Amino acid sequence: MADDKKTLKPLATGDRTIPPEGAKEIPIYIMGREYMVPETLTIMKAVEYAGYTYVRGCGCRGGICGACGTFYRFIGGYRLRSGLACQTVAEPNMVIMQLPFFPANRPDYDLDKITGNPHEELRRLYPEVFKCVGCGTCTRTCPMDIDVMDYIALMKRGDLKGAAHKSFDCVMCGLCASRCPAQISQFTAAMFVRRLFGKYMLPKAGHLEKRVEEVRSGKYEKMLSELLAMKEEDVKKLYVEREREPDLAEPGKWMPKDTAKL
Ligand code: SF4
Ligand code: SF4
Ligand code: FES
Repeated sequence: MADDKKTLKPLATGDRTIPPEGAKEIPIYIMGREYMVPETLTIMKAVEYAGYTYVRGCGCRGGICGACGTFYRFIGGYRLRSGLACQTVAEPNMVIMQLPFFPANRPDYDLDKITGNPHEELRRLYPEVFKCVGCGTCTRTCPMDIDVMDYIALMKRGDLKGAAHKSFDCVMCGLCASRCPAQISQFTAAMFVRRLFGKYMLPKAGHLEKRVEEVRSGKYEKMLSELLAMKEEDVKKLYVEREREPDLAEPGKWMPKDTAKL
């Protein structure tokens, strides 16, 4: 139990952590051990302040990569909570454990060889999806506030477009799968569905195909060589003086005056 009067010195100070001046120290528990850390730090910074160095379990530090999934409880509370360590502020008496990887079902498949009914392919590769008991634990666990149970329900019904849209913000942290009583790997199944959706259901992006073809044909080689041959300050000047798209341009309508390099 934490004693508010006790002040433990941290073992070391992580080099990425700059504690706010005058910040009060609060007790947190990392892998079962108590540390005093300044308030207002994220869990990730608090862990570093306590002297740990991340080798895994840390990537973007901006809530995007999903590498820092974390479970925590408050001493005296029964509720298991979850969040991303880089986005969740450490609070007094948090008992923290990170889950940087979860052994999910990741079957082998070749998207180019999927010729049959996509829904049946989902059933073949991820049969556990159809065993969802609708408990909602995944939705309550998701740090991105995604209605995971709902996208699983859409998958079961064969609404792959709906499931792809609903799961779009998933950062692949794996926290949902770690708590599923039906042992469903929601996030890898959803990734499969989004890949199917992108490859077989979305209309083809004609302009992208055209641009890829232009790149392959070597259209930009000369321009790139010219850029590489320029002095750094000239490249910077070119960048600063470039013609910019106005902030409120109507999508697809704006064109630069000089179109020679498009
Ligand atoms: S759906 Fe699952 S893997 Fe994706 S962000 Fe939510 S909890 Fe993480
Ligand atoms: S935790 Fe598993 S069983 Fe429960 S709703 Fe989510 S997917 Fe279904
Ligand atoms: S480090 Fe990337 S989401 Fe936290």
